[in-house]
Amino acid sequence: MIQSIDHLGIAVRSIDASLPLYESALGLRCLGREEVASQRVKTAFFDVGGVHLELLEPTSPDSPIAKFIAERGEGLHHVAFRTDDIKGQLEQASYRGVRLINAAPVEGAAGKLVAFLHPKSTHGVLTELCAVRPGGSAH
Ligand code: CO
Repeated sequence: MIQSIDHLGIAVRSIDASLPLYESALGLRCLGREEVASQRVKTAFFDVGGVHLELLEPTSPDSPIAKFIAERGEGLHHVAFRTDDIKGQLEQASYRGVRLINAAPVEGAAGKLVAFLHPKSTHGVLTELCAVRPGGSAH
């Protein structure tokens, strides 16, 4: 079952260049930064009333975030829903005809398991499902 919006992913060219907006202009506190090698991104997290903003900076030209920025510029990249059953959620979406980017969950930031649904199947919104692994810690 989907429990909440976990985070919004925002593609940026540079986290360092983006931090003044979120920290100084908006007054949000950065909870942490992390490199996610599997996605070829660096991330920085902010908490906004229980929903996190996740800034995503590409670490390689073949990063999905680099491709997104090249095609569409910086901006909102994905919406992530937290679920207590990521495999069941993927099976349900697939059964209902949604194209999956990840047929099985992969390791995301903060030890979460994540899987993406293809934006061509979700009316243009790249949609992430994420789950805290047993023993893992939530942001
Ligand atoms: Co995400």
